[in-house]
Amino acid sequence: MTRCTLLLALVLTLLMRMAVAQEDILIADFEGDDYGAWTTTGTAFGSGPARGTLPGQMRVGGYLGKGLVNSFHGGDASLGRLTSPFFKIERNYINFLIGGGGHAGKTCMNLLLDGTIVRTAHGTNTAPGGSETLRWQSWDVAEFIGQQVQIQIVDDHTGGWGHINVDHIVQSNEKVFSERTRKIIVESRFLNLPVQNRAPKTWMRLLRDDAILREFDIELAASPGETDFWVTLELSEYMGETLILRADNIAPRSQGFDMITQADGIIGGEDLYREKYRPQFHFSAKRGWLNDPNGLVYYDGEYHLFFQHNPYGWNWGNMTWGHAVSRDLVHWEELGDALHPDEFGTIFSGSAVVDWHNTTGFQTGERPPLVAIYTYAGGSNPWSKEAKHTQGIAYSNDRGRSWTKYEGNPVQEHIIGGNRDPKVIWHEPSNQWVIVLFLDKTQMALFTSKDLKTWRKTQELEAFFECPELFALPVDGDHERIKWVLYGASGAYFTGDFDGETFTPDGDAISFNYGDCFYASQTFNDIPPEDGRRIQIAWGRTGHPDMPFNQMMNFPVVLNLRQTDAGPRLFSWPVREIETLYRQSHTLEGLSLDEANHALESVKGNLLDVTIVFEPSDNAAVFGVTVQGLTIICDLERQELRCKDKTAPLRCEKGRVSLRLLVDRLSVEIFAKGGQVYMPMSHVGDPAGTELQLFATEGQVAIAALTVHELASAWR
Ligand code: FRU
Repeated sequence: MTRCTLLLALVLTLLMRMAVAQEDILIADFEGDDYGAWTTTGTAFGSGPARGTLPGQMRVGGYLGKGLVNSFHGGDASLGRLTSPFFKIERNYINFLIGGGGHAGKTCMNLLLDGTIVRTAHGTNTAPGGSETLRWQSWDVAEFIGQQVQIQIVDDHTGGWGHINVDHIVQSNEKVFSERTRKIIVESRFLNLPVQNRAPKTWMRLLRDDAILREFDIELAASPGETDFWVTLELSEYMGETLILRADNIAPRSQGFDMITQADGIIGGEDLYREKYRPQFHFSAKRGWLNDPNGLVYYDGEYHLFFQHNPYGWNWGNMTWGHAVSRDLVHWEELGDALHPDEFGTIFSGSAVVDWHNTTGFQTGERPPLVAIYTYAGGSNPWSKEAKHTQGIAYSNDRGRSWTKYEGNPVQEHIIGGNRDPKVIWHEPSNQWVIVLFLDKTQMALFTSKDLKTWRKTQELEAFFECPELFALPVDGDHERIKWVLYGASGAYFTGDFDGETFTPDGDAISFNYGDCFYASQTFNDIPPEDGRRIQIAWGRTGHPDMPFNQMMNFPVVLNLRQTDAGPRLFSWPVREIETLYRQSHTLEGLSLDEANHALESVKGNLLDVTIVFEPSDNAAVFGVTVQGLTIICDLERQELRCKDKTAPLRCEKGRVSLRLLVDRLSVEIFAKGGQVYMPMSHVGDPAGTELQLFATEGQVAIAALTVHELASAWR
């Protein structure tokens, strides 16, 4: 090749590159308050772009920025059209996000040339259920370059899925990739994937030949600069193998798919557990969303905490059982995820037991197996009426380190509604398993089983919503006076009797939790009899948007039944193992309020276990404590404890009111009346703040005792 042709080739290549790299032209991103030059007819499109989900609609996702076209104004019944001004086609493709109704010609977006439809696209849903997530589509419009066209978004359908959602319409020389595929030769422990919160979701699959090893949706970041955090997928078990990674719905010009890479740790994980808003003595997942505690069981010196986990995103989704272990309920080690979604569905809540008598036949070695009992949330939308949840089991013969799903799954077919959340206990007197299952609305059912594979229904009863629990406790420690407790996800409970088949409540439902940071709690199975505690962990509903994880577990509490004037009541109290974190303790007695506040100035930390015993004078009515901007009020006039919008009954007893507070980055757990009042509160404290002040706004109050334990982080 001569110099001249070489130069020519170079120039040509550059020119071609420039042509491809031509800037995209934004047609509309619907970020304004109104539609600008676009015009509407009918009512379905409202007066401007929607800010996400409209009233009565399932959660809309997968749009960019804050606004989108959403024709659900007035529900599915409304009709209308939204039409763009004329514009010139200047690129080869029009790319856009579209979702909602999948009725061709009725809930659609059309490209009009001289008033004629030359391209059309519609959403994905026609049947009940489905998803309100927008996905990328492309029109090849190269043949129309230079021509004047219009876009018309149509809502001509009144029945189910009678609406259309559209966002981010751009002209581009790059087509949206409907599918990307890559070969992966496994050489590191983790696949790292970049996440950008709220990016349109990509459906990702990891395959071995045609077999699906993992599949999940992910808000894949489009570039390094747009990456909020990285998530990992454990590859250890595939070391040396060649696998395939496949993704759909990759955003135009996204580098996300190519950024996915192998590493032995979490990319950007140098600050793990030291992030600004990471709870320091509450369990949270390394990465991603967490909700219910699952499978709480004690085995061979370890407390196992499984949890509802989205390993690949900040929001709820891809339900998987995460897994952590601890020897003291305070210091947790997160292991890899234990149960992954499969062809029967994602893995919803459930419980775990030690199968001491090998009733399941799953035992292979000397030691009894662990067995997990969980819900399969089948169907593309697990919350739709059409989703048919079933129940499955899985077992482990290596102390929970690896799990095998039972080949005969599901063991319990769908019964009704969103039936889910099996809690299993061993019932010694009848020598069999008892399973309590949430059915629908506030119904629950009890089953017995000899082997966990065949269940026999013994009772249906009106009880509570989601996440049932059933256990026995002695009243005031008296083993001659056993009461059974049945509760649901909010913590409301019945005390009652249970004969191995039927639960009979004593009376009405009783409140257990008074805070805003408590749900879906569970208690441990198989705590050794010499310990004998009934230990509970609840999902603490609190998070911070800037963190690579979301939500946490409340601090473990011991439950006791104590006789009160109103009957036996549950009391909750932090497990004594919190003492392993005590670093510096301040203990004072018999102080005035001012003296106490002065003494509190020497408290330097902000991870605290605080006990305050107030001694109100006769005229004292309102007093309390402020901790890092959160005010906790004891109001003796109204006989209540208040925090934010939450209240609980509170009286002055024996001239005193005593409060215990556990203060962490995202929560303050309040215990009053010796634990009869349990008020866990979500609260984002100042990570550097040390504010802790007592006050009395009406009347005098003395401080009989004040104990402040500054806590060490459980992560170091
Ligand atoms: C409670 C719950 C359960 C369900 C799980 C799904 O928070 O809705 O009923 O099994 O979460 O993540």
